[in-house]
Amino acid sequence: MNFEKVRDEKAAEIEKILYAYLPRQEGHQKKVIEAMHYSVMAGGKRLRPMLLKEAYVLFGGKGDGADAFMAALEFVHTYSLIHDDLPAMDNDEYRRGRRTTHVVYGEDLAILAGDALLNYAYETVAGSILEHPGNEAYVKAFSVFAKKAGIFGMVGGQCVDVMNENRKEPLTMEEILFIHENKTAALIQCALMCGALLAGADEKQAAMMEQAGSAIGLAFQIQDDILDVTSTFEELGKPIGSDEKNQKATYLSLTGMERSREEVKRLSDRAVSILQGLDERNEFLEELVLSLISRKN
Ligand code: IPE
Ligand code: IPE
Ligand code: MG
Ligand code: MG
Ligand code: MG
Repeated sequence: MNFEKVRDEKAAEIEKILYAYLPRQEGHQKKVIEAMHYSVMAGGKRLRPMLLKEAYVLFGGKGDGADAFMAALEFVHTYSLIHDDLPAMDNDEYRRGRRTTHVVYGEDLAILAGDALLNYAYETVAGSILEHPGNEAYVKAFSVFAKKAGIFGMVGGQCVDVMNENRKEPLTMEEILFIHENKTAALIQCALMCGALLAGADEKQAAMMEQAGSAIGLAFQIQDDILDVTSTFEELGKPIGSDEKNQKATYLSLTGMERSREEVKRLSDRAVSILQGLDERNEFLEELVLSLISRKN
């Protein structure tokens, strides 16, 4: 199996699902829907929907039963990026190789496109619950989805991240881990837990996926912060040096390059060993997790 080829094919399948779930670009609110399309269809690794689908398959899920949650999660992720790039937050002008949504559509429509994607994600998930009447798994997955996207997840992490910019005294490791665990790991946990639950996983299995997601998410953010220093704009599709510009404290700024690289490896190995402790295996998922250690974008 050529891992990269399979991964790219899976990403292309996800693109089709995303497009199919997005609203049509028409009506008086056409402009904001265009902005939603512009941001969602700009490329990106599609990691979260991919993880969701692979967790679904791992627990025996079949067919398109996870598609709506996959689309909804990428909508939430994309809204988080639109808002993250706003002048009031990280103030970045490129994302996924294109000018950011607020640069192209203005701040007002970018804020609204983010709001719209967030709401539309919930409409999409609600539609999927209604399509599976009596299936408690969809309701459980919905509850995880809502929590991990919100104040006890991504939004919570983003709040602490922006509140501590330019802080004089250094952040503690506990604070850094809180930020990374919430702003980034929460949506990755969301992916793995929702995929597992939709396929019928029990609480214990979902908790294992949550732990694996925590390790993958922390590793992912540390690698993101490493790439912010070591990569190029061409390779990343977003500006390098964003963290330094914003005086952002990160795992990297606290511990240095060598320890950060070791931690990415250690956490990724830990995630894979959690996955290997389950009754069933998904080798593609394990390879996907390990591939993130050396990712270049
Ligand atoms: C970027 O996420 C934001 C972080 C949590 C670091 P990704 O690196 O997954 O961005 P895309 O979706 O591939 O553009
Ligand atoms: C953002 O972290 C995580 C989000 C929840 C959007 P960063 O601010 O480091 O992400 P990038 O580097 O802009 O993608
Ligand atoms: Mg940020
Ligand atoms: Mg940012
Ligand atoms: Mg970053």
